[in-house]
Amino acid sequence: SMATDIVAELADSLAKTGVEDGELSYKGQGRKLDDAQSAGEIVKDIEEFEGLQALRMEGNTVGVEAAQAIAKALETKSDFKRCYWSDMFTGRLRSEIPPALNSLGDALMLAGARLTVLDLSDNAFGPDGVKGIEKLLKSTACFTLQELRLNNCGMGIGGGKILAASLIQCHKLSSEKNEPLSLKVFVAGRNRLENDGATALAQAFQLMGSLEEVHMPQNGINHPGVTALATAMQHNPGLRILNLNDNTFTEKGAVAMAQALKHLHSIQVINFGDCLVRPEGAKAIAESVSEGLPVLKELNLSYGEITADAALAVVEAVKNKDQLEKLDLNGNYLGEDGCKAVKDTMEGVNMISLLGSLSDDEGDPEDDEDEDEEDNDEDDQQQQQQGNISHWPKFPTFFSLPPHPKPSTPVSAPRPPDVSSFLSFPSPDKLLKLGAKRALLVQQQVDVTDARKTAEAFLKIASVYKEENNDVKNAVLDTIDAILSKAFSTPSFQGYSFVSVLLVLLGLIKSEDKIKPVVVVPGHLQALEHVVRQDYFPKENVAVLEAFMSRSNKSLESCGNARNGLQSTLQRVRPQS
Ligand SMILES: *[C@@H]1O[C@H](CO)[C@@H](O)[C@H](O)[C@H]1NC(C)=O
Ligand SMILES: *[C@@H]1O[C@H](CO)[C@@H](O)[C@H](O)[C@H]1NC(C)=O
Repeated sequence: SMATDIVAELADSLAKTGVEDGELSYKGQGRKLDDAQSAGEIVKDIEEFEGLQALRMEGNTVGVEAAQAIAKALETKSDFKRCYWSDMFTGRLRSEIPPALNSLGDALMLAGARLTVLDLSDNAFGPDGVKGIEKLLKSTACFTLQELRLNNCGMGIGGGKILAASLIQCHKLSSEKNEPLSLKVFVAGRNRLENDGATALAQAFQLMGSLEEVHMPQNGINHPGVTALATAMQHNPGLRILNLNDNTFTEKGAVAMAQALKHLHSIQVINFGDCLVRPEGAKAIAESVSEGLPVLKELNLSYGEITADAALAVVEAVKNKDQLEKLDLNGNYLGEDGCKAVKDTMEGVNMISLLGSLSDDEGDPEDDEDEDEEDNDEDDQQQQQQGNISHWPKFPTFFSLPPHPKPSTPVSAPRPPDVSSFLSFPSPDKLLKLGAKRALLVQQQVDVTDARKTAEAFLKIASVYKEENNDVKNAVLDTIDAILSKAFSTPSFQGYSFVSVLLVLLGLIKSEDKIKPVVVVPGHLQALEHVVRQDYFPKENVAVLEAFMSRSNKSLESCGNARNGLQSTLQRVRPQS
């Protein structure tokens, strides 16, 4: 009809505004492209676009046949350079992604394209997805690659190794042609690369030596992987941004990184937040900062179990960095006096406005020093004094104290009472106060082999969700991800029972068991909306949720927008039959 034509035209012209030269964008259009026919319009646009350089496909979902049709149209585009292909396989089976990527890659190779940007972030393609781009990565088309973005792709150790080998091969072949691969930007946060994946990639980084930005947060990398990365970074003197947030350095990794920093004179952003750099690591980093790093803008050493003396060394080190914009030391062990000393020092050099909040400080370990010393001696004493009751009362008090560094374990001492208190009477504040390792702590406390307990825990955590507060929102979603990804990957976990119990608890179905529904709040539905989009959530459950969500129901009345959001996401992620 005429009206739909006008709407289509409008959408079309909107899509083409604000777009770079030579770029065709379908960004965020939520198109479901299953077969060649549904991709017809895009194919036609590509064919007619002379000198096409970039294609934006993020926020659509592309199946194998549609990808093949688009690929066919790309085969003649020799000027093509930039693939903005993040989030383009939502709701697709994992097995569909490698062949779809393969045909797109083959087309670019056939076209003789010379890529500068390859962005495949937020495609949960797993290790096999990397195989789908292996051939492309080794080809002439990638000799010129500058940006490789693979955030949140579930690559794992296996995918990380394939990726590293492909980059190394590309570097070898391109060097033989006198145009060595010189990647500038590498992004692979949230991929479970762990030590072995990171170590493999470190080899590729060391060979290239051209990196300017490296983002690998949240990859479960411990000190061996961190040390390998540190060595590699020394060979990349142009590095400006190093983001390894939320990996586990401990002293060893942090000291190795500090050593690497001495070679990195262009570094502007160092994000080692939530990396457990510990006091010794922080002091080593402080030393490197004070010796060099003239253009440092941001230093994040938050949530690292750093004590006041080490934090003061850091403050001392940044004092004369005239380009500094941000220093984050939140969530450490400064204590009240330490916080004051840090603030006073920053104030004294007119830099207080650059200091981030210290509101999450975990308190002064000095207070527990006696306990600490006893902890260290504990083993010896225990052996000598087994059964000596006069020694006992000191052990239980350990659990009610604020966390303090346990010298040889990477994770803070567990605090079961806090977690159970949060799960019994959840509040945003309590969740945040569980500290940086909250997701792990809560996960350990929930029996994920029991579908009902898991559903109840999910709703408890989700109840404190706050859309407008990023800290709370991220804490909630990370914790929920930790629990549910573990649950759904546990063989004895009954995913179907989980969904049924959830529906009962949400008051959407009646149960013969005496399960009392909860009072549904928007956070429940907002968190669920996040969950159904995650790779761990089996998509065969989506239709059931969708069916019950769409019925008119009293229990959801107060959730207005959250319910609409969930419904449209369910529609989007539902597998196509
Ligand atoms: C520093 O890292 C912490 C922990 O991951 C994060 O919450 C915070 O936002 C970061 N600070 C800055 C300034 O980016
Ligand atoms: C028990 O331990 C205390 C110190 O903790 C010590 O003074 C006492 O002698 C010990 N008693 C025995 C029977 O070992």
